[in-house]
Amino acid sequence: DLPRFVKIVEVGPRDGLQNEKSTVPTSVKIELIYKLVASGLSIVEATSFVSPKWVPQLADAKDVVEGIRHVSDVRFPVLTPNLRGFEAAVEAGAKDVAVFASASESFSKSNLNCTIKESVVRYRDVVTSAKKYGIRIRGYVSCVIGCPVEGSINPSKVAYVAKELYDMGCSEISLGDTIGVGTPGSVVAMLEAVMSFVPVDKLAVHFHDTYGQALANIMVSLQMGINIVDSSLSGLGGCPYAKGTTGNVATEDVVYMLHGLGIETNVDLNKLVDAGDYISKHLGRQSGSKTTTALRKL
Ligand code: HMG
Ligand code: MG
Repeated sequence: DLPRFVKIVEVGPRDGLQNEKSTVPTSVKIELIYKLVASGLSIVEATSFVSPKWVPQLADAKDVVEGIRHVSDVRFPVLTPNLRGFEAAVEAGAKDVAVFASASESFSKSNLNCTIKESVVRYRDVVTSAKKYGIRIRGYVSCVIGCPVEGSINPSKVAYVAKELYDMGCSEISLGDTIGVGTPGSVVAMLEAVMSFVPVDKLAVHFHDTYGQALANIMVSLQMGINIVDSSLSGLGGCPYAKGTTGNVATEDVVYMLHGLGIETNVDLNKLVDAGDYISKHLGRQSGSKTTTALRKL
């Protein structure tokens, strides 16, 4: 049975804009977040409190969070790679954070500059601190299907990292096909492994659309009982330097599919398309959403 309601976690302002070649001005980021909220999205991942040397595009994290903290009834999670990032996020007013580990040892090294085990130890401190503040923590596992260096990733590795994050107190685990190589076949095998350790209602799926498999992968995930889906407005993202990665599946396309299935999202597709127009105009390029492209031609 398919779920009746799917919770969409919009990650465009973070996962999308962190990968843009040009840095988007703070005021445009804030306006974009307002437009996403106006479309009905109730969870918008806003930014990351990471090293500006690694991710200069999000160096204005504090200003972004301060610019949206007065908005009520919407959750704005931010990524925090360590206790320092967590403390800066709390100081700026964040009430929702996310930590990000990897199922691939090589990717952990390149993304966090530490081993998987070291990242887990680090995150225990973040979770302990978050509990004190009553802050909700999401845990990401990246490279759940494949890694740019190691190739295929064994589902048991994904299950191990997901379990670690869940056991330490993450309230939700998002499974990221970071490079978008998954197919419904590999996704089902991965989900089966993870679901023997983490309850399905605590799992989210996070697909990048490199091979055009994201919607099919979401569909099989829904069939397996998942009802939280990450996506990015207009398919924002895609690293111009790392070959083989594109943005996340476009939120417009996810909403179009879900509504077509009779699944509720609380999102107004027309307003979402308007938000997509806003950022596409700013970036000076076509939307990465087929739904938006189709609706604009009609
Ligand atoms: P490091 O280089 O290993 O070492 O960074 P460090 O801890 O010694 O710090 C290096 C410098 O960063 C120092 O500055 C620190 O002070 C500073 P310096 O002394 O050289 O001037 N620093 C910080 N600055 C701001 N905020 C902080 C912070 N911590 C240290 N929180 C570190 C380690 C983890 C910080 C670094 O590697 C980092 O910031 N990584 C972030 C990487 C990132 O954001 N990746 C993208 C997100 S993950 C993702 O995209 C996958 C996902 O979408 C799911 C999927 O698709 O699968 C979630
Ligand atoms: Mg991602």
